[in-house]
Amino acid sequence: MELIIDSKENIAARAAKQYIDLLKGKPNAVLGLATGSTPLGLYAELVRLYQAGEISFKDATSFNLDEYVGLPPTHDQSYKYFMMHNLFNHVDLPEERIHVPSGLDTSAETLSGYDAAIKAAGGVDLQLLGIGNNGHIGFNEPGTPLESLTHVVELTLDTREVNSRFFQSLDEVPTHAATMGIRTVMNARSIILIALGSAKADCIKKTVQGPVTAEVPASVLQLHPNCTIYCDPEAAALL
Ligand code: F6R
Repeated sequence: MELIIDSKENIAARAAKQYIDLLKGKPNAVLGLATGSTPLGLYAELVRLYQAGEISFKDATSFNLDEYVGLPPTHDQSYKYFMMHNLFNHVDLPEERIHVPSGLDTSAETLSGYDAAIKAAGGVDLQLLGIGNNGHIGFNEPGTPLESLTHVVELTLDTREVNSRFFQSLDEVPTHAATMGIRTVMNARSIILIALGSAKADCIKKTVQGPVTAEVPASVLQLHPNCTIYCDPEAAALL
């Protein structure tokens, strides 16, 4: 893995440049996307670049990492809503090529259909990841088998507490999520993980310098042939 330590603003610009380069060379690229606070700067930069005519998503396809079980796409805390609001409503990615796991239909057929759809689209060219304070990628919590495909997970109390900042109370935070598996993520041809802030320092140390273990799901990225980890100085503080 390549480690880049830079300011939050520069990380957004440098990661956005990877999207410009990818889409210039392969306009119909398949993008794996993430939600949460971390990608907001990157998404704002991609919207700015689109408005400036420097990037187009018109032939691209996207697959998001995860969705809360039980939330319809219209719920303002659903990840589909987040993506529409923060990226898709502002760029030219066609709606029919936007994919977010369903939070309402989590049948085995639908979950395996998500991996099948990624495969049918040609596989993910560039997967964007944030990282949970506990080392989760997507919603693959510690202990998730490294060979997992898209599946439903029970969120840890820790993750629900961290994410309760977006809800009225902890009780409203869904207990389960549908997520791409670790194998699904690792199948991407290239990966960008962004970590911002001191709360990520411990999991970044374990991810970059610790052993590869299911207890720190992001540590498996050490085995990926083309993974870039962008950290701000706070997230890199323990390296
Ligand atoms: C989001 C996702 C999660 C987040 C992680 C960090 O789609 O899959 O793994 O990337 O929980 O969240 P933030 O960015 O809010 O710190």
